[in-house]
Amino acid sequence: MGVRFNQDANTFILETVNTEYQISVNEIGIVQHLYYGRKTFGQDMRFQNTFPDRGFSGNPYERKSDRGMSLDVLPQEFSGCGVGDYRVSSMSVKAADGSRSCDLRYVSHVIAEEKTAIPGLPSVRQNDCMAAELRIELADEITGLQVSLIYDVFEEKDIITRRAVYKNIGNETLVLEKAASMSIDFPYGEFDLVHFHGRHCMERQMERISLTHDIHTIASRRGMSSHHENPFVILSEKDATEHQGDCYGFMFVYSGNHKIEAEMDQAGSTRVVVGIHDENFSWQLTKQDEFYSPEVILSYSSQGLNALSQNYHKIIRDNVCPPKYQTIRRPVLINNWEATYFRFDTQKILDIASAASELGVEMMVLDDGWFGKRDDDNSGLGDWVVNEKKLPGGLKVIADGVNALGMKFGLWFEPEMINEDSDLYRAHPEWVLADPGRKPMMSRKQMLLDMGNPAVIDYLFDCISKVLSDANIEYVKWDFNRSMANAYSNILPAERQGETAHRFMLGTYSLLERLLKAFPDLMIEGCAGGGGRFDAGMLYYCPQIWCSDDSDAIERLKIQHGTSYGYPISSMGSHVSAVPNHQTGRVASLHTRGVVAMSGTFGYELDLTKLTEDEKDKIRQQIKDFHEYYWLIQKGSYYRLTNPQKDDYYTAWEFAAEDKSEALLNVVVTHVQANPQFPCIRLQGLEETALYQVAGTDIKLTGAALMYGGYVIKEIIGECDPIERGNYPAFQIYFKKSE
Ligand code: GLA
Repeated sequence: MGVRFNQDANTFILETVNTEYQISVNEIGIVQHLYYGRKTFGQDMRFQNTFPDRGFSGNPYERKSDRGMSLDVLPQEFSGCGVGDYRVSSMSVKAADGSRSCDLRYVSHVIAEEKTAIPGLPSVRQNDCMAAELRIELADEITGLQVSLIYDVFEEKDIITRRAVYKNIGNETLVLEKAASMSIDFPYGEFDLVHFHGRHCMERQMERISLTHDIHTIASRRGMSSHHENPFVILSEKDATEHQGDCYGFMFVYSGNHKIEAEMDQAGSTRVVVGIHDENFSWQLTKQDEFYSPEVILSYSSQGLNALSQNYHKIIRDNVCPPKYQTIRRPVLINNWEATYFRFDTQKILDIASAASELGVEMMVLDDGWFGKRDDDNSGLGDWVVNEKKLPGGLKVIADGVNALGMKFGLWFEPEMINEDSDLYRAHPEWVLADPGRKPMMSRKQMLLDMGNPAVIDYLFDCISKVLSDANIEYVKWDFNRSMANAYSNILPAERQGETAHRFMLGTYSLLERLLKAFPDLMIEGCAGGGGRFDAGMLYYCPQIWCSDDSDAIERLKIQHGTSYGYPISSMGSHVSAVPNHQTGRVASLHTRGVVAMSGTFGYELDLTKLTEDEKDKIRQQIKDFHEYYWLIQKGSYYRLTNPQKDDYYTAWEFAAEDKSEALLNVVVTHVQANPQFPCIRLQGLEETALYQVAGTDIKLTGAALMYGGYVIKEIIGECDPIERGNYPAFQIYFKKSE
């Protein structure tokens, strides 16, 4: 397994446990895509090649009278531009003479055991499950542009990663105007495109559209991966469902502007191109310069969307997130944001912490408002100095007080932002992204710092480090609360302004890298107005990301469901908040809020000093339950059992241990009825012949009965208190395999 080169056929075979990917180099050096799917057991897939003479699809010069070979219809691994392939291109380059053509041909290849690092960018970490790397060099003779296609094969995980490195090996300066990370052509198949759109407070809603003869673009130009279009898509066969059928995933390991294009061409083949968005993008390559495009994580499943999601969950948990969280438990936290917003002082925070510690909460997080002049969201960003008027004695008093309760202490930052009303802006207006002479677009009264400017990174590193060193701060919530506009950098010349947005991301990643190096025990939670930067790039630094600013349990069912297609449960920041819910006004029971928040990293975000004794008891029990199910939830196989976007009666999902020894079924009724039907839920991932005991009862049922017959929620009628019923009842049922 891994990577093989068949010299006679000039083909590369990339193999994982269940999948195979074939590439060939044809007689004129075009790198062709042959196949991606289930194993073929040694079959050379070139037998599928066809060379039709299609009108208006021209031919490479050297083929002379052979009209059968055209770049316009040939399935390729990466396209050049301007030389007769009229489908969406992988790249675009402007040469010094103004020409914009690039004909990429095979030069050489290398197969290696080690993964080559990508300077400055997050990527899938190599560990035992990586088998090999294939590097294919292509070049265009005239411009002197070299493109290296890099493939890493993660055998056990059924994952292949891809990226491209662009290098100027000519003598003249080149300007990249599009620089995708990968492209692939599926010669056969009819596909749906599954993507995850949304908005603030309603992120990652799954939408499945039919791919037609058109270019479908999933993109962000917001300088962030965005609430609006997540950089993850699935190409699924039309008949694929959650549990059967072919599907392919493409996940971009990047947090900035992205563009994923899917095009069905004249002949019915489908091209997918993934990369940094080319709008307002350019990158100058002087002699010998290189440009590293971010990585894309590919996976294929013949077992439907759920199995595909499980492949992504594993690779992100094991090889993307900081590795230590594979074995250490993350604390149950209380965050003061929805409890106090900006209205707090030292005593209030310590009171909440004290109430929390009695319930078993393990970390107190102090959110926005502790620094500079920050009593609302109009000022202070950039001034990362504690406001001693509000918090006399500084953060040390709070951190020590929280630690004395046996809890950890965490703190909110929004490093990439600045308010006009801040000391930082008064001192360094030139550090802001803004066009010369034009008033910048404002959002939440804030602007973006130029993270591509090393002086900005040094400033942020110094002041954040100082705060982290002055008190025992073990966690940072890293927020980002607006989209990018006016992307003009004061340190770049006019001809390099197209580099600003990507340099911004490189600066952000470098700051994260530097801080984690200086504070190796620090845990960072990502956030961007909730889940506006929920992507594999941020997950490389942050094992968890606040999933949404909508903390309503019923709305969260949809948000967490959509998020689960690409991202593991262990990455989803999810809290129990107050009722009526601050975003929707809805009242869901405390139990229901707990069940939903537990399918995530779990925490609380309400004023715990105001609880009744009954609520306190319930919370104590929730935290106990969460601890008991911790590894099952965080590392178990996750199954979506219903689709909350379509099924309006109830939502069900399950965690099953990989060794099938236990499972946790979760059900939330979303449409309360007077005379309801009994939900009968078919479980997944159990051992057919084993007996499973239903916790709290002496009922034992076979795995087969639970999977093919289903578990009936009888409590829906009768035993459920009418008030509870009106508050969206939830059921959490634990099954343990009997000895
Ligand atoms: C964003 C976050 C919230 C909170 C506020 C503070 O909206 O998503 O959780 O931290 O900022 O301003």
